[in-house]
Amino acid sequence: MAHRILITGGSGYLGGTLLARWKEANFLSYEKLFALVRTEEQGKAVKQYGAEALHINLEDPESIKKAVLDHKINIVFYLVDPRNWEHQVSFIEALSELKKQTGQEVHFLHTSGAKIFSEHAGAPTDAPLLDTDPKLYDIQKSQKAPFPLLQRAVETNNLVIEDAEAKGVRSYIFAPCIVYGKGEGFGNPISIQTVAIVQAAIKVRQVYKVDVGRPTWPVCHVIDNTTLYIELLRAILSGKEPGYGKNGYYLASPGSVAWDDIYSSMAKALAKGKYIDNDVVKEADDKELQKMGDALKCPKDFVPVQLGGLCTFTAVHGKQIGWRPQFAPEHIIETADAEVELILQHLKE
Ligand SMILES: NC(=O)c1ccc[n+]([C@@H]2O[C@H](COP(=O)([O-])OP(=O)(O)OC[C@H]3O[C@@H](n4cnc5c(N)ncnc54)[C@H](OP(=O)(O)O)[C@@H]3O)[C@@H](O)[C@H]2O)c1
Repeated sequence: MAHRILITGGSGYLGGTLLARWKEANFLSYEKLFALVRTEEQGKAVKQYGAEALHINLEDPESIKKAVLDHKINIVFYLVDPRNWEHQVSFIEALSELKKQTGQEVHFLHTSGAKIFSEHAGAPTDAPLLDTDPKLYDIQKSQKAPFPLLQRAVETNNLVIEDAEAKGVRSYIFAPCIVYGKGEGFGNPISIQTVAIVQAAIKVRQVYKVDVGRPTWPVCHVIDNTTLYIELLRAILSGKEPGYGKNGYYLASPGSVAWDDIYSSMAKALAKGKYIDNDVVKEADDKELQKMGDALKCPKDFVPVQLGGLCTFTAVHGKQIGWRPQFAPEHIIETADAEVELILQHLKE
């Protein structure tokens, strides 16, 4: 049966890059691509990728159901919000209804984040945590996150899996990590954590580390993150049945680097441009954390969640379905100048 795919978040960093790489991905076996849009301009922009624009109000389950059933959308890529589950539950319900009507297999991909598999969300960090670990769902179920926001994000992953399984929908939990590099879409070209480092540093005119020791975190170039979305979709389209549900976790990352190395390389770039006083990475005390929190619009206790911490989540699943990242983890360090320049240029605009 023909596949009809909906991409959400197409004006964003990750979703925009996915749309931009769509044509060269050369998917053979799908009938139609749709992109959720919220404005007329976005509607015009997505046409260049061969996508039909759909105005769907994610706050309204009926709007979601109508879009899915009217257009017979059987694959949904959700790239909007990892912390709340209402939209996802509505999509799963609608996909389940479509399956009842047509008998066609239906798929829901939820974009989560590596943070949900890190110390910040109560995940174990004493050994590599593989995205293929058969106990990963049980591990997520037992996590107790120190922040309610992150606990909710963990529960969102679990709920997506449980609800989809109960309703006959194949679910996938896709976890981007520290993603970097220029987004190629028509909307937002910059990421999240690297942007937070720059914003906090400019505020206090210094790069500060927020952890004891040398914690590491998985990293990924935006193109490699995109090719994992593409390979997963290719596997679904070709009927290869990539792991789903409780076996459907996918981390996009070629490996991890130490935050200290990211800080140092970005500090050099920021100091060169005189955005900070010097390129020494210092340890943040309460006063600096407070100011960094002001820059990031969050309480000081949440600053380490934005730009630090330990995450041992390790990517195996993508490679099993044929995903080959182009960029080594150290590439983020080597290209810190370009990342800082991109962020500063975009923030100025
Ligand atoms: N970038 C990373 O490094 C990273 C890492 C881990 C996880 N993630 C997660 O991956 C997802 C995508 O990240 P991103 O970097 O691409 O974020 P982004 O650039 O901020 O894009 C967010 C997208 O979601 C759309 N959106 C937000 N609220 C919406 C709503 N109520 N209805 C419809 N669309 C809505 C935005 O549309 P508008 O343009 O119309 O606002 C935009 O297209 C997010 O959930 C993010 O938390 C990202």
